[in-house]
Amino acid sequence: MKRLPALVVLAAAVVLAAPIASPQSFSVELGHTTGPEQPIHFPHVKHPGALRMNCLYCHYAAEKSEVANIPAVSICIGCHKMALTDRPEIQKLTAYWNAGREPPWIHVYTLPDHVKFNHMRHVKAGLACQTCHGPVQTMQVVYRYSSLKMGWCIECHRARLKDPLYPATMDCFVCHH
Ligand code: HEC
Ligand code: HEC
Ligand code: HEC
Ligand code: HEC
Ligand code: HEC
Repeated sequence: MKRLPALVVLAAAVVLAAPIASPQSFSVELGHTTGPEQPIHFPHVKHPGALRMNCLYCHYAAEKSEVANIPAVSICIGCHKMALTDRPEIQKLTAYWNAGREPPWIHVYTLPDHVKFNHMRHVKAGLACQTCHGPVQTMQVVYRYSSLKMGWCIECHRARLKDPLYPATMDCFVCHH
């Protein structure tokens, strides 16, 4: 009977590993097409979408540091001091600006503390934001497009081990503290 727990764990692992057979389920969490209720309904579909703004106009740290930034209200106010000031969502934005506060945006993408990630390295290696974040320019609300599971990271790293310019690695300590 002592071996039972181990078997249960093994069986669970097999069940969990099963979706790996279909490559799509690696990167797309099916059914996950809505994001959290944000303090301001910021529509990506209008900014990088309709207005064709570059992602890096707002998320400039993504190509310069490990962590990508959420833009400060000052970046928004550059346009919304004048644009659409009669709209309720823009009035919320202006209220944050006047109070000298940032909206408490809710993160959609987060990794556990024991995992390290580095935006700059991935962006410099030529990976488009959309590879990992999906078609953000069409999203009304940003939702989690990738599973963020270890298997998802590894699938891409393994395929690029021998890349002549930007080889990825399977070293545990590159991703774990
Ligand atoms: C380059 C100028 C520019 C910047 C910078 C900008 N916006 Fe906008 N924003 C616009 C324009 C123009 C529209 C209208 C687009 C449309 O309707 O197609 C808009 C639309 C919006 C809307 C929809 C309003 C409504 O009710 O229709 C919201 C909310 C908004 N912006 C918030 C923000 C926030 C928050 C930021 C900063 C993170 C920001 N914007 C940065 C130009 C800008
Ligand atoms: C006008 C500024 C602006 C532009 C341009 C913009 N974003 Fe954003 N982005 C924001 C703001 C504000 C948030 C936080 C609110 C939200 O999640 O919608 C955000 C959130 C995100 C998030 C979720 C971050 C988290 O905390 O988990 C991702 C991913 C993202 N953006 C990717 C992109 C990509 C990819 C593009 C280009 C296709 C882009 N953004 C263009 C302002 C912008
Ligand atoms: C190789 C996959 C990958 C690529 C390419 C990528 N990201 Fe991310 N992004 C992630 C992961 C994973 C996280 C969660 C990081 C964490 O929690 O430490 C994240 C988080 C974010 C966040 C939230 C802030 C943060 O750093 O935790 C923003 C904003 C963001 N990404 C924007 C972008 C933009 C804009 C681009 C393109 C210039 C981009 N990302 C390219 C995987 C990627
Ligand atoms: C779509 C492909 C892709 C995905 C998905 C991806 N990576 Fe990477 N990653 C790469 C490539 C390519 C490099 C090599 C970049 C270079 O050589 O500068 C890299 C490099 C890294 C590095 C820097 C390695 C070093 O030597 O310092 C870390 C850390 C990393 N990845 C962590 C992650 C984590 C954690 C995830 C999942 C949350 C992930 N990656 C998902 C392609 C990917
Ligand atoms: C390319 C990045 C990457 C590499 C390389 C990598 N991991 Fe991970 N690992 C992750 C991510 C992301 C998670 C968190 C998501 C998850 O649990 O699937 C994780 C989770 C884990 C967990 C689960 C921890 C928990 O909370 O349950 C263990 C154990 C682990 N990794 C061990 C390893 C070992 C051992 C190696 C080397 C053989 C390794 N990892 C290599 C990215 C990586």
